[in-house]
Amino acid sequence: VILKKIRNKIDIIDAEILKLLKLRVELAKEVYKVKRALNRPLVDRQRENEILTRIREEASKIGMDPMLTLKIFKGIIRLCHESQRKLTTVSPGHKEALNREATLKTSPPQRVTLNLTTVKTSETVGEDGLLKDSEFLREAKLMVVGAGRIGKFIVKFFRGKVKEITLISRNPSKAERLAKQFNVNYSIDYSYASQANLIIMAIPPHNLAEVASRLRGFLKPGTIIVDTSSVKKGVVESVLSILPNHIEYVSIHPLFNPARIRSFKGLTVVVIPVKGERAWRLIAEVFKDAGLKVVISKPEEHDRVMSVVQVAHHLAYLAYALTAYELLNPRELHEYRTRILQYTLTVLGKLKDNLEVIKTIQELNTYGNEAKIKLLENMKQLSRISDENWTRLREALSKLS
Ligand SMILES: NC(=O)c1ccc[n+]([C@@H]2O[C@H](COP(=O)([O-])OP(=O)(O)OC[C@H]3O[C@@H](n4cnc5c(N)ncnc54)[C@H](OP(=O)(O)O)[C@@H]3O)[C@@H](O)[C@H]2O)c1
Repeated sequence: VILKKIRNKIDIIDAEILKLLKLRVELAKEVYKVKRALNRPLVDRQRENEILTRIREEASKIGMDPMLTLKIFKGIIRLCHESQRKLTTVSPGHKEALNREATLKTSPPQRVTLNLTTVKTSETVGEDGLLKDSEFLREAKLMVVGAGRIGKFIVKFFRGKVKEITLISRNPSKAERLAKQFNVNYSIDYSYASQANLIIMAIPPHNLAEVASRLRGFLKPGTIIVDTSSVKKGVVESVLSILPNHIEYVSIHPLFNPARIRSFKGLTVVVIPVKGERAWRLIAEVFKDAGLKVVISKPEEHDRVMSVVQVAHHLAYLAYALTAYELLNPRELHEYRTRILQYTLTVLGKLKDNLEVIKTIQELNTYGNEAKIKLLENMKQLSRISDENWTRLREALSKLS
């Protein structure tokens, strides 16, 4: 009986591995399509080497044979290459379309539109139009996955609004400390999902698919799943493809660094309806009732706007930080600082505290490259002083400020 139980567990794990492999292959295909649209080389040896080095190091850390693990991952990369190669083999009917695409050298990345509910985009949720479903929240058992900055914010925000909160962390001592601090439950066990009816995954975007597949088997019908990722396109589709049909799913993006807020009032949160009408309305309503501004959006639209709001914006600041550091020593910079530089240094301090999230946004926002290229072009043009450029700049500044 014991052997049977262990074998059953092995079968479940094998099935999960297979699903994750399928997901990995699908993401590799997405990467291929974006690269093709951007005219970028299809094989990136540097990235592959980075992946393999990381795998080798992580395998050693957890006591797995690094060389054997590396072999498995090389096989996975081959599998992904193979699926990408199949995308290049096209039927004669598709050839003409592909040729046309190839001539459009500056064509934007392929946009995959999710089949969302028919919400208007970029509207601020008004007084009406939101269903009152306060019963659901009052009775909800909320599971928060990830005890990082956003996880803590979610716990603080939902305290007193739901019946019970359980914080899930991979680190038991951290979970216990935070649970005591906020007077909530904690666990390291994902099976708690079978009791929850609201689950918020406050974890990095590249770990969402893995966590969604670990939760999958425990989810009961009607459970509302929420992610808080700063990047939506690709990420939301992957999570949706893993979750079972009987759940509802809404993706949110709090547009603030939660570590530094004192009041919820005046903050903005983007709400992206993905699956189920009730879920997004409930989530939008709870934020709106607490005084936050709610913007309803779609994954593509969110990422397109955030490529300017975050990708290009952060990059401009970070490039300045490197420039200042490489041309002056920090003491000189501080000694001669102007008031406006002081402001910039404060912003850089905030960026430093959030560097991993910022790096992920730079990597994953599929509209980011267009914004970065535009930023570089404008820097180049502005560095050559011409009346024409400065007229353009004056106009932009007067419209923006
Ligand atoms: N920071 C911001 O300003 C901000 C704003 C808006 C949205 N977001 C988004 O919110 C999410 C969380 O960001 P954050 O700032 O809270 O990051 P964070 O402080 O680094 O916390 C992320 C947490 O995710 C958990 N985690 C990491 N890898 C995991 C894995 N493989 N499996 C399960 N859990 C894992 C960890 O929790 P445990 O160690 O407890 O397991 C970690 O503390 C991200 O998607 C980010 O893009 C961040």
